[in-house]
Amino acid sequence: MEYKADIGVFGGSGFYSFLPEIEEIDTDTPYGKPSDKISIASIGDKKVAFLPRHGKNHSYPPHTIPYRANLYAMKMLGVKCIIAPTASGSLKPHIKPGDFVICDDFVDRTWGRKDTYFEGPETKHISGAEPYDAKLRGLAIEACKELDIKAHNSGTVVVIQGPRFSTKSESRWFSKMGWDVINMTQYPECILAKELDIPYINIALITDYDAGLEGDEDIKPVTEEEVLRVFNENNSKVKKLIFHIIKKIHL
Ligand code: ADE
Repeated sequence: MEYKADIGVFGGSGFYSFLPEIEEIDTDTPYGKPSDKISIASIGDKKVAFLPRHGKNHSYPPHTIPYRANLYAMKMLGVKCIIAPTASGSLKPHIKPGDFVICDDFVDRTWGRKDTYFEGPETKHISGAEPYDAKLRGLAIEACKELDIKAHNSGTVVVIQGPRFSTKSESRWFSKMGWDVINMTQYPECILAKELDIPYINIALITDYDAGLEGDEDIKPVTEEEVLRVFNENNSKVKKLIFHIIKKIHL
């Protein structure tokens, strides 16, 4: 690969507007093509590779995203870490739409996704005990404080298969289990990064209260439109935060 980058970012299409002088690369991997072309831009003294995980036209729903190709393409570029913002639902009343959660654990409720590079004969059993990079999480928490952005310093994300949202009973069960955040893409993205030895963090932007909040009839179950509306409303905050984290990373 002739192109190189220092930091990888996965995220939504709203990001392009802020990347200065983008160079777009059309790449291929032993695991197929990534979701889209990868944009590379210089931010300060670092080269940042940006890949929209759903594709620019949002043509990959969560269960069809080529996760292995996406992560492998970042590995081929030589990125030293990955920042992964996601739109996510809240499972707790005190985690509100517009808040950020710097997740420190996940629960996998997906099925049928290609979630390993080791399908034999080469075998590797990585630890799942610390899926998110502690140092990067620390930088993200600091960055939120410095920018006066409301963030929760830890949280467990339950990853559902989608593309449908959860039923009320499923949502109640997840919150009773003590899980904080819900999303459809953190698995296997997070664990594939770990298999490739790339430190990875999730910055969960809360867009909704999932199937609603018990005892509060005014809070309606999540819709796709609401997720997009809240994510777009907070897009500049996400960009600002990621820029600031990038600035704080010393490679
Ligand atoms: N992404 C954003 N909100 C979500 C929710 N409530 N469930 C699953 N994925 C989501």
